[in-house]
Amino acid sequence: MRALQVQTLSPDLSGCALVDLPIPPRGAGEVLVRVRAASLNFPDLLMTRGEYQFKPELPFVAGLEFAGEVVEADAESGFAPGDPVYGGNKTGGFAEYAVVPARALSHMPHGIGFPAAAALGAAYGTAYTALVEIGGLKAGQWVLIHGASGGVGLAAVELAKRLGAHVIATTGSPDKVERLKAASDADAVILAEGRFREAVAELTHGALCDLVYDPVGGDVFDESTRCVAFGGKLLVIGFAGGRIADISTNIPLIKGFSVVGVRAGEYARRFPERGKAIREAVATLAADGRLNPHIDRVLPLEHWREAYDAMAARGIVGKVVLEP
Ligand SMILES: NC(=O)c1ccc[n+]([C@@H]2O[C@H](COP(=O)([O-])OP(=O)(O)OC[C@H]3O[C@@H](n4cnc5c(N)ncnc54)[C@H](OP(=O)(O)O)[C@@H]3O)[C@@H](O)[C@H]2O)c1
Repeated sequence: MRALQVQTLSPDLSGCALVDLPIPPRGAGEVLVRVRAASLNFPDLLMTRGEYQFKPELPFVAGLEFAGEVVEADAESGFAPGDPVYGGNKTGGFAEYAVVPARALSHMPHGIGFPAAAALGAAYGTAYTALVEIGGLKAGQWVLIHGASGGVGLAAVELAKRLGAHVIATTGSPDKVERLKAASDADAVILAEGRFREAVAELTHGALCDLVYDPVGGDVFDESTRCVAFGGKLLVIGFAGGRIADISTNIPLIKGFSVVGVRAGEYARRFPERGKAIREAVATLAADGRLNPHIDRVLPLEHWREAYDAMAARGIVGKVVLEP
């Protein structure tokens, strides 16, 4: 089978190659899936450089999430050959076949195709865990969502809107303001540059935001500490901007807000019942047509480099999907 293999760690993808490998053997408790679509996530890019917290042993097949059809599963697994499924297990998705534990897969919601299903798990799972499960989002609240042109950002915009929140979406790329307006129904799209608190205060009529969702970090995080309402939450999602910010503890004390770390995958592993409930809630919203992942482009697996380069260059609005 064809697979995208990370052979050595490199800053420029030079350690990655499309190779022919045997179909991976399936063990007990695992499911063999014919992959139809796999979506790229920022951790996939970081893993080619050895910059992600999870460091798989080299060489490994890249790709943390995918959708496809079951080829082979244990009888008691709940999956049967031909079932359309989606999920992933950190690696192995950018290949014609993948083997993952049964618990890392879900049945595909009715009415959505493989590309959308491949883009559902990580982005919406993260958005739901952060906004609903940890953030306690309520209709009518103001939410500031950074990195909103990205996978986890755009999913959060869509989810927050469906749940009745007022959403201010940000981008750090001036040329993406209009693209983001077209791709989302955010109440406002602003540039997350310099002192954006004033824009946030004006849009919220001085109330500031109940939740701030931050996958970017660095200067964006620093300025966000000025955008959270008293009693609000600043949700730390990631550091796509490259700098992990520091915060003096007197700031959340004086301003009465919480800084909360979100690890959606780990949350689901530690609290499997909650993880299942989150997956089901997202799948139900998708099956009802209320969540529609914005797919920037679908590329054949052979064009993997274009996908990674576009992500590194911040050229994507939504998700890129690879089809093996
Ligand atoms: N906590 C969790 O459970 C969890 C789960 C999944 C992902 N994450 C993290 O969330 C972050 C975003 O992941 P993603 O998959 O949504 O990535 P993505 O699709 O590439 O989106 C990241 C967005 O961040 C913005 N950005 C700002 N500075 C950037 C820079 N220097 N380089 C690249 N992008 C930059 C870009 O938007 P603009 O160009 O519009 O500014 C980009 O669209 C990553 O740090 C990832 O590790 C966390």
